[in-house]
Amino acid sequence: MKLIDIIHRPANPAPYAEGEKIPWNEPAFSARMLREHLSQAHDAASRRFETIDRHVAWIHRAILAGRTAKILDLGCGPGFYASRLARLGHTCVGIDYSPASIAYATEHARAEGLPITYLERDLRSAAFGQGYDLVMLVYGEINPFRRAEAAAILTKARQALVAGGRLLLEAHTDAAVVEMGAREPSWFSAETGLFSDRPYLCLTDHAWDAGERVATNRYFIVDAATGEVTRHAESLQAYTDDGYRSLLATCRFDEVIFHPSLTGKPDPAQQQLIAIVAS
Ligand SMILES: C[S@@+](CC[C@H](N)C(=O)[O-])C[C@H]1O[C@@H](n2cnc3c(N)ncnc32)[C@H](O)[C@@H]1O
Repeated sequence: MKLIDIIHRPANPAPYAEGEKIPWNEPAFSARMLREHLSQAHDAASRRFETIDRHVAWIHRAILAGRTAKILDLGCGPGFYASRLARLGHTCVGIDYSPASIAYATEHARAEGLPITYLERDLRSAAFGQGYDLVMLVYGEINPFRRAEAAAILTKARQALVAGGRLLLEAHTDAAVVEMGAREPSWFSAETGLFSDRPYLCLTDHAWDAGERVATNRYFIVDAATGEVTRHAESLQAYTDDGYRSLLATCRFDEVIFHPSLTGKPDPAQQQLIAIVAS
């Protein structure tokens, strides 16, 4: 793309029309994203370790009642949840399509001798296997999937559970996705960063499709040396609490409990996400 294509961009892009997600699975992008996952300076990509420690303590104590379990972590990233759960005695499988994250997670599990299997797969096409006590998908990653894809993933999750097993979904609140779609455009510059190893400008704009109830974020990355523009886009489906109940009912989860956060308590730093436990 050229700079003029930014000027001529459609004002209200249709959901998913300009891209499904940022390219988590593209090798060079995933290597740069791994740096963001590992950074303890911010909560982008993954949250800081002190927060993840609190989440894992709640999952172990409140959801699993301290009993050892077989756990499937969908969109596991570099394995920050799976590794902590494995250290508490659980056996884990992590699935993610980021090559750099899966390589990092695999190497660290091997070095520590943890009972974790990591699979580099797309959640939309991966076989999940069976016999899990808990399937989890955290940090709001259910919302970027189209509604039908989300339903298919959650149906596979339900089929992967043992009788009495549970799904743990950490999802965006309805208000958070609506607010995202209404944000003003913004920009930043970087010498190097997530979007490029070369100096670039990142121009961001947002759109809201009221009919579909989908927010779209667009990132126009302008290479400082050449002026070449690369566009990334992601769309997020909004769900009310009833929307989540109905999505989970479609996937044949019958008991659904909402928690204010992955610590079981309101978290002032994380009001845009809720934790949903379904059985
Ligand atoms: C926000 S990160 C969260 C990572 C991890 N759960 C954590 O909280 O540390 C979302 C993860 O979902 C993965 N992901 C997104 N779409 C995916 C897909 N279609 N198949 C597999 N993994 C996917 C990304 O690669 C990324 O690692």
